[in-house]
Amino acid sequence: MIQKRPLRLGVNIDHVATIRNARGGAHPDPVRAAKLAAAAGADGITAHLREDRRHISDADIAALAREIALPLNLEMAATETMLAIALHHRPHAACLVPERRQELTTEGGLDVAGAHDRLAPFVARLAQAGIRTSLFIDPDEKQVRAARTIGAPVVELHTGAYCDAAGIARTRELERLRRAAALADELGLECHAGHGLSFETVGAVAAIPTIVELNIGHFLIGEAIFGGLDSAIKRMRALMDQARSDARGEKSA
Ligand code: PXP
Repeated sequence: MIQKRPLRLGVNIDHVATIRNARGGAHPDPVRAAKLAAAAGADGITAHLREDRRHISDADIAALAREIALPLNLEMAATETMLAIALHHRPHAACLVPERRQELTTEGGLDVAGAHDRLAPFVARLAQAGIRTSLFIDPDEKQVRAARTIGAPVVELHTGAYCDAAGIARTRELERLRRAAALADELGLECHAGHGLSFETVGAVAAIPTIVELNIGHFLIGEAIFGGLDSAIKRMRALMDQARSDARGEKSA
């Protein structure tokens, strides 16, 4: 039954590497952060190996694949170079994302509908290697349907527009997320969501019953500066769980 699905938390540790790279040394270590995240209640670790290697490095991916016990979700652009890296390390999952060198972060979802022929072989080759592939898309009916056509088992809905919006626009963005998540479920796709989520914005997204995983990074690493990573992850986890159980109409103990 949909409402009983657990909600997993994937902790994105990219920005631990951003801070490390500011000085070019080895501290702080993303693998240490991943281990700490596991101890604090994360269900998975997400890392984005960008083409320009601005945060996570090839060596980080190798170390994460080797050293962490939690499932690793490798975010990557759909390029032959990234595919070769994924096939070499065989993470539990890969999330295909659009990537532009000039962007500060992943600014929008993949145009799956417009790039079917280019993306389909990547999904197929990752699947053949046993890597569960998700497509990072905007919460848009056309994109969800295209993801289904392409054969991806998972979609991750971009929550950035929802997090950035205010007032009525935010309500509209939340409704788009709800509709896209319901459609994904109807089409047999597993639905994840992420980007820009914070203590303030996570609850409404966590309450959407057909979403089974949230991937959260920047806010958690930023919050860790003030109260520690352990405490930031535990609070996020608690807010997610509370929102999900409130949405189910469960009484708090
Ligand atoms: N999901 C995907 C596909 C992403 O590209 C990112 C950012 O790397 C996230 C989730 C996490 O976003 P944030 O760091 O804003 O929490």
